[in-house]
Amino acid sequence: METERIVSAWKRPDDWDVERSLRPRTLAEYIGQDKVKEHLRLFITAAKQRGEALDHVLLYGPPGLGKTSLAHIIAAEMGVGIHTTSGPAIERQGDLVAILTSIQANDVLFIDEIHRLNRQVEEVLYPAMEEGAVDIIIGKGPGARSVRIELPPFTLVGATTRAGMLTSPLRDRFGMISRLELYQVKDLQAIVQRAARILNIEIDEAGAEEIAKRSRGTPRVANRLLKRVRDYAQVRADNRISHEVAKAALSLFEIDDNGLDQMDRRILFTIYKVFGGGPVGVDSLSAVIGEESATIEDVYEPFLLQLGLLQRTARGRCLTSLGYEYLGLQPPEAEGESQ
Ligand SMILES: Nc1ncnc2c1ncn2[C@@H]1O[C@H](COP(=O)(O)OP(=O)(O)OP(=O)(O)O)[C@@H](O)[C@H]1O
Ligand SMILES: [Mg+2]
Repeated sequence: METERIVSAWKRPDDWDVERSLRPRTLAEYIGQDKVKEHLRLFITAAKQRGEALDHVLLYGPPGLGKTSLAHIIAAEMGVGIHTTSGPAIERQGDLVAILTSIQANDVLFIDEIHRLNRQVEEVLYPAMEEGAVDIIIGKGPGARSVRIELPPFTLVGATTRAGMLTSPLRDRFGMISRLELYQVKDLQAIVQRAARILNIEIDEAGAEEIAKRSRGTPRVANRLLKRVRDYAQVRADNRISHEVAKAALSLFEIDDNGLDQMDRRILFTIYKVFGGGPVGVDSLSAVIGEESATIEDVYEPFLLQLGLLQRTARGRCLTSLGYEYLGLQPPEAEGESQ
């Protein structure tokens, strides 16, 4: 299962305590995502100068890239409180009204997995975001009347891995929409080095770079690999993570030089073997591989696309010539070429 992979980007139960200690607390501690940070810094400074709540922010991107961390950082940088909930946790309109009426002025309300809010709840959110008020119905039958409740100003920070699943009225009410990208190796290397400092792990630059290269562009994966490589170093080496130690540990975990594991290789190989190199739709791929379409799209594909092994066309996914090369095969164009 996807969640059992060591390189899974989804959160696993054993990530909990480590994530808390490793979570960056300020924009300065938050490594990479420079464009997003620059925009946030500007908006936060402006809102603070005016003494107003920050405009609503939507953060989207693959799992494990730092959306939850950023939501907390936004509140910390604004100097306000944060209330955390998630789309599936808010079942009824009344639940949301209760939260909205209990927060302090300018606080952050963080709704994780915001694409999973139900319609009725979403309808309460529209006027809350736009007009700073909610309408509730009091009483039943012919005597029922609608009462408007003014809310303290607040900032909604929404996070989602699937921006495409948000309804457009909801999306349109965010003043800032930020897409988080997979991280570059040098940023992941800095993230590994920072985590090693916090966890008191001895690691050299090349060791950190090796872990970074095999982390699928994802800080959560980088931190998890660091912990596993530390175990290896403790048992098989002298507690120090050098380049050699990192390489040996990671190949033991069956993560290859490109950072791909068995599942990635299976996806590439299936596209070649079963679908003639593509194009293939995600649902057909999902049926053969036995992994959910959403997981293929959110977790595997972004990294395979970033490495250039896979290409997404209007008709589906195709192997690129690099993808063929990775599998040790000749790309089809090359076969017919005589020169
Ligand atoms: N920019 C960063 N700098 C340093 N560490 C980071 C950064 N982004 C994420 N991390 C690390 O990765 C971990 C996961 O980040 P976070 O929980 O914020 O991701 P997420 O996008 O909310 O994931 P999910 O989609 O699963 O909710 C954090 O605990 C932190 O240790
Ligand atoms: Mg999160």
